[in-house]
Parts: sequence; C-alpha cells; structure tokens
Amino acid sequence: MRIRLAVLVSGRGSNLQAIMDAIGAGRLDASVEVVISDMPDAPALERARARGIPAVAVRRRDYSSRAEFETALADAAERARPDLIVLAGFMRLLGPAFLDRFPGRVINIHPSLLPAFPGLEAQRQALEYGVKFTGCTVHYVDYGMDSGTIIDQRVVAVMPGDDVDSLSARILEQEHDLLVEVIRRMGEAMSKAAGERPERPRAKQSAKGDARCGQEQA
Ligand code: GRF
Repeated sequence: MRIRLAVLVSGRGSNLQAIMDAIGAGRLDASVEVVISDMPDAPALERARARGIPAVAVRRRDYSSRAEFETALADAAERARPDLIVLAGFMRLLGPAFLDRFPGRVINIHPSLLPAFPGLEAQRQALEYGVKFTGCTVHYVDYGMDSGTIIDQRVVAVMPGDDVDSLSARILEQEHDLLVEVIRRMGEAMSKAAGERPERPRAKQSAKGDARCGQEQA
C-alpha cells in the first residue's frame, strides 16, 4: 500500500525534503499529497512546488478563532485523503478542531529525547542543561506540547565544544533518517491492517505455466 501523506510545515522544510528524497529514491513507498504551511513564505512550500506537489498556505490571521483556523487546516489536509499527517517543523500547537478529525494519524518530529526539553529551542535547552546525550523523537500528537505517545527515538551525543548550530546539525541528520523510517514502518503496519502483504519476491514461473494460467499466481 502506498501511504498517502499530508505534511504540515512552517519553515525550512529539510524534513519534508528527506521524505520526498526517500520517495524519489524508492526507499519509501509513500506519496506526499499536499504540503500545508501556516507561513506563506516558508521555503518548505517552494520545495514542494519544485516536486509538483500541491502546496498551500493557511494563515492564522485570516481566521477569527483558533478553531476556525484549525478547521481550515484540517479541511485542506482532508481534501488530500491522507493516511498519515506529518508535522515536520510545524510550529503551532494543534487542538481538537484539527486533531479530532484524524485520531491516531498525526505524528510530529521533535529535536530532543522527549519527555526532556519539549517546546522551542530544544537543542539550546539540552546544551544549557548540560546533558551528555540528546537526540530526536517521533511521537503521536495530542493536545499538549510534545506530550503524545513516543513512537521512536534516536540518541545523539553532545560533544565537547558543541554549540547550538553544531548540535542541531547532527540531530537533524538523525531526524531525517528517523522520520522516514517511522513513516515506512507505519505504512507497512497500515498495509498489514488493510489485509495486504508487503510485496515479496515471487517464485519463478515457467513460461508454460504463465500461458496456461494467464494470471498472476498468489
Ligand atoms: C526540526 O528540528 C524539527 O525537529 C523541529 O523543527 C525543525 C524543522 O526543520 N520540529 P525543517 O523545517 O524540517 O528543516
């Protein structure tokens, strides 16, 4: 099953790029059906357009309440009929008007080993605290701040002399890998749940057998 993705972004879009690259390289059986940003000038939107993927901006200030804004976001996502919604650098908390539309189908990538250092500037928080190891987390999204159930994590060592930039860069490499890996595994799980098996190499069939049956064997 090719897993259909809607990706929500606010900025640079390197995690989105990692997903699109993995799909392009045949490492991820998925399709990005839409990219949605709350920031109309997010470079991530350009990255999507460069791949011919629909890229839409939904601005908070165009709506009078948070619920209306989230309903517009959810409508934009739902039009793409996504199996999974990926928050990849989407910098807003989402509430019931969005999340209740997609129960169990919204995940986020965060640059720390949650539950340590939720919220903004997680890499700076880790350096200031003085931890020796940090990393990144993919988790389900609930109403709280980076508080949903953890799906998977990667550990990154803090090196002597690290600053926010050097540490962020090493974590980001792991983010890209982890996010693609989690989406791949979730896609496989969804296929299984839908009663499909991931493709297996089939036993060689003789030309005679093919001609006789005229159809694929199980
Ligand atoms: C990443 O560090 C992600 O973990 C955090 O925001 C950053 C987004 O980076 N939530 P990018 O836009 O994917 O390059």
